[in-house]
Amino acid sequence: MPLEFATTIEATRQAVAAARAAGKRVGLVPTMGALHAGHVSLIEAARADVDFVVVSIFVNPTQFGPKEDLSRYPRPFEDDVRVCGEHGVDLIFHPTPDIMYPSFFKTFVEVQDLQNVLCGASRPSHFRGVATVVLKLFTIVQADVAYFGQKDAQQARILLQMVTDLNLPVQLKTVPIVREKDGLALSSRNVYLDTEQRKNATVLYRSLTASREAIEKGERDADALLRDAREMIEATPGTRIDYVAIVDFETLQPVQRLHGKVLIALAVFFGSTRLIDNVVLDLE
Ligand code: PAJ
Repeated sequence: MPLEFATTIEATRQAVAAARAAGKRVGLVPTMGALHAGHVSLIEAARADVDFVVVSIFVNPTQFGPKEDLSRYPRPFEDDVRVCGEHGVDLIFHPTPDIMYPSFFKTFVEVQDLQNVLCGASRPSHFRGVATVVLKLFTIVQADVAYFGQKDAQQARILLQMVTDLNLPVQLKTVPIVREKDGLALSSRNVYLDTEQRKNATVLYRSLTASREAIEKGERDADALLRDAREMIEATPGTRIDYVAIVDFETLQPVQRLHGKVLIALAVFFGSTRLIDNVVLDLE
């Protein structure tokens, strides 16, 4: 089947309804474009599960803070179309901001507590914007399954809570983080890094790996692990830590002595570019 495009909500619903009428199961991969191998792994996971894969490409203004990179966020639309074509996507939903947010737009979704910690602490309305746009994408596309990356661990956790709390008829699947050979997690924002910053950015995954290794050797004290991680990052030139945290995987609240399923997450600035990474460990 050729790759279809829809910019309007009606056209998207029609294309999805036609796929459903043909007995197809529908998968949704929400993205902001600038597609890379991380996004492709979500598309491939969808292809393996369902018969009709929808990729949404929308740089969602409500999830950017006033001083963030909304205007300079990369938008290589033609490259994205090519990537979708090469990976068997059936439909691209590519709305304009005024289709998603008409001038009289008043409703937002908040996932309390989970939205305020980790990235939410320094990006106060970010997850409200994410939850709102993703709920809209869910009601527009009405997919059976939607795919998210573990790269954005807090986002995946918040969206699962939203789906549970609001009884949304969609199954969520989380796909592992795709990394460069040197460990840096793929991100649309990596293009902002200069050569020096790109080299230094490997400290994110090196520090997560060091924490994991220490835990595997028996360390259970969060403070000790966090102190070592901070030291390693601070020893790298040009870094500014936003947060390094060890939290319970379900509640996203800090743990003192590690047990059960924990998320080690960090956000670090390299100049004005803020990168995130994480690992999940199951200590049962
Ligand atoms: P975006 O940053 O474009 O990411 C789209 C999806 O790709 C997210 O689920 C993200 O976790 C996943 N992803 C990004 N980098 C990845 C990597 N290296 N490995 C695996 N998956 C990766 O996340 C968003 O867009 C937006 O917040 C969105 C959900 C589309 C709402 O606007």
